[in-house]
Amino acid sequence: MRQQIAAANWKMNLTYSQAEQLLDNLLSKEYNLNANRKVVLAVPFPYLKLAVDKVNGKQGIFIAAQNCNTKKSGAYTGETSVEMLQSLSVNYVVLGHSERREYFNESNAFLAEKVNLVLESNLTPIFCCGESLDIREAGTQNEFVTVQLTESLFHLTAEQITKVVIAYEPIWAIGTGKTASSQQAQDIHEHIRNSFAEHYGQKVANEISILYGGSVKGNNAAELFAMADVDGGLVGGASLNADEFATIINALK
Ligand code: 13P
Repeated sequence: MRQQIAAANWKMNLTYSQAEQLLDNLLSKEYNLNANRKVVLAVPFPYLKLAVDKVNGKQGIFIAAQNCNTKKSGAYTGETSVEMLQSLSVNYVVLGHSERREYFNESNAFLAEKVNLVLESNLTPIFCCGESLDIREAGTQNEFVTVQLTESLFHLTAEQITKVVIAYEPIWAIGTGKTASSQQAQDIHEHIRNSFAEHYGQKVANEISILYGGSVKGNNAAELFAMADVDGGLVGGASLNADEFATIINALK
């Protein structure tokens, strides 16, 4: 059975004390989590240890980094390795967010290297894909996303691919308040699952969690998550408010 995941992406927000407060608020609430219904919190690097300690193995709640380097270690000033994340008991790494693709020029081939390293270290990549507004308007979003998956993921074995979480995030819906309709989300998630099915077979494709991201809020999460191929969400702005994110967690199937 594939996992349903509510993932928070705090991006570059909050001071240390605000992060502490948000974690305390979030963790003081009750959620119906289990092996197949999870929460992942992608917090800034300086707060990873704090977040891991606060969560302290609480059932169904995991911590993610928002990036990692392609190199294992060495003279790369200012960078963070997967080994460092592993040593902090971080379990997930967000890779290929559109903001990193756009502002840090991360290409599909470069992301393939990160995916390999994260999997080798037994952490779970949350691999982001998604098209810009002009591609959506041209109607070529399916082809565009397939290229992203092909160039960064399709070299993996079937066993490896089931360890990757996908986050489909249309760039035009990120931080804009303009959510994809639940049908738009379902259509492209189904396309993504079909692409996996073509490469790895339907059984493997059915195991892969595909999250939707882009202006997910407390008031639209349930409708989005109810769609057959939407297995939860990757949430930016609304994850900075404990009550709002709790509503999103409780909207998981
Ligand atoms: P918003 O939820 O703020 O639109 O951000 C989505 C996102 O980029 C999550 O990674």
